[in-house]
Amino acid sequence: MMAGRGRLLPCVCLGLLGVLCWVWVSFASFPDDQLPLEALDAVDRGAFKPQSALSEMEFSSISSYSGPGNNDRRSNKELPILLWWSGNLFPHFPGDTERIDCATASCLVTSNRKVQLYKRTASIIFYGTDFRAYEAPLPRLHHQTWALFHEESPMNNYLLSHGPGIRLFNYTATFRRESDYPLTLQWLPTLDYLLKPVAVSLEEKNRLRREGLAPVLYMQSHCDVPSDRDRYVKELMKYIEVDSYGKCLNNKPIPEQLEDTATATGEESKFMDFVARYKFHLALENGLCPDYMTEKLWRPLHQGCVPVYRGSSVVADWMPNNHSVIIINSFPSPKALADFLKRLDENDDEYAKYLAFKDPKHITNSRLLKALETREWGVNDMSKPNYLNGFECYVCDQENARLAAERAHRKAPKKSQPPQPKMANNSHMGCPLPSPGYGDVQDLPADDGWLQIWPQDYWQSLDQAEGLESLIRHNESDPSLLWKHIQNIAVSRARGKH
Ligand SMILES: *[C@@H]1O[C@H](CO)[C@@H](O)[C@H](O)[C@H]1NC(C)=O
Ligand SMILES: *[C@@H]1O[C@H](CO)[C@@H](O)[C@H](O)[C@H]1NC(C)=O
Ligand SMILES: *[C@@H]1O[C@H](CO)[C@@H](O)[C@H](O)[C@H]1NC(C)=O
Ligand SMILES: *[C@@H]1O[C@H](CO)[C@@H](O)[C@H](O)[C@H]1NC(C)=O
Repeated sequence: MMAGRGRLLPCVCLGLLGVLCWVWVSFASFPDDQLPLEALDAVDRGAFKPQSALSEMEFSSISSYSGPGNNDRRSNKELPILLWWSGNLFPHFPGDTERIDCATASCLVTSNRKVQLYKRTASIIFYGTDFRAYEAPLPRLHHQTWALFHEESPMNNYLLSHGPGIRLFNYTATFRRESDYPLTLQWLPTLDYLLKPVAVSLEEKNRLRREGLAPVLYMQSHCDVPSDRDRYVKELMKYIEVDSYGKCLNNKPIPEQLEDTATATGEESKFMDFVARYKFHLALENGLCPDYMTEKLWRPLHQGCVPVYRGSSVVADWMPNNHSVIIINSFPSPKALADFLKRLDENDDEYAKYLAFKDPKHITNSRLLKALETREWGVNDMSKPNYLNGFECYVCDQENARLAAERAHRKAPKKSQPPQPKMANNSHMGCPLPSPGYGDVQDLPADDGWLQIWPQDYWQSLDQAEGLESLIRHNESDPSLLWKHIQNIAVSRARGKH
């Protein structure tokens, strides 16, 4: 009944009793412990759309399930709202709105952008790859937090790697261990995945070597990437035999039966059998960043091949032990690496040491074991939430705690402190300026393809981060003014004022 009133009254009121009616409806729709009393600001205008974006969900019955520790008895229309700005990632279906009952409290989550300016909309969740400064939800409302989900490559959005970009977000779920909801081991499903017996015995690998199989595999189809890996591999190929099947540096035709799967990251069994025959897999990530590790690293470990890795500078922190991966950057040159690989190729005992971790007692990295044991999300594991649902619950619990602290502070300002502001910083992403895969940037010709793309992309992303920060500081509502703000920043910098 309350509900019907909340929906119909705005239409009746509009234009008639104006502000008086508006204030009353505000209180009718939002119990006052939910709301600061300054109900007349522009924010509320969003709540007076004739048809609530959430109407169906608002009035449906309360779901009976609650997470352990969740005694939240509020009806749907009293809950804080979390808006997924990247609707295609909204982890619920069917419909665009859902009640979630998290560890300590509940929220409504929606992908319906109509709620952007609602007072009840406590947080907006973004997907890093899709986040564009010129499409950001503006004006940025003071009471709303921003949450960033970004598990993909740093190359997908360098805006997030700059201080002014990442600081726009209050909560993060990224591949970095320092983020609020770390996804560092997202590509490692379980410990058993690592422990699986080697797919092809060393004896068999040696036999294949005698038949002419190269010691090293490279298989990559995305060539123009910020890590500039081909430049390194090309140099390495001068000193050791590498079979390269993908589009990049291709020197071998892909067997017909594999053609469909060669570019897939999937674990298709024919593909798996094919690559498992190689002693070494070149595993170079497309973008370099601390803690950014993908299946390129974990798959060879799973299969019992030795990864020759470049990617996260701190990869050793997560390896099963200190002798399971060959780290490219610890060699002074591609030739030195090639010589090392050739020696291992000829020395079975030394090669086998890299696979000692297949015996659980040689998995000695307690950081790895603990992280696998304590993470609350699962990979292809129905008994655990996936990390999208996990992160939205993290944000929901944080926001409910913040709102409760704000209410307590309003009621008893002397007794209860207001909640501390919280925002991300460079340790939550902070990937470095791309550098050439081999050699010095000074030595690259001006028309080098990599040089023309990636360093520029990185610095232009900084411009966009600063432009968006400026839009927000000026309380702009139109994100397409971004370019004007970037220009103004450039001009004031030129005048020595920035
Ligand atoms: C910010 O902009 C909104 C809408 O454009 C306006 O209603 C509001 O008063 C502004 N807030 C401040 C603090 O300037
Ligand atoms: C690797 O670990 C072993 C056994 O824990 C230890 O004896 C050895 O010193 C370590 N080596 C390096 C390079 O850290
Ligand atoms: C969220 O981050 C913004 C921008 O960095 C900051 O101004 C705001 O105070 C933060 N909000 C909270 C609730 O911490
Ligand atoms: C950056 O964030 C991390 C993790 O959230 C925090 O521990 C650290 O103190 C922050 N650093 C700075 C300089 O604020």
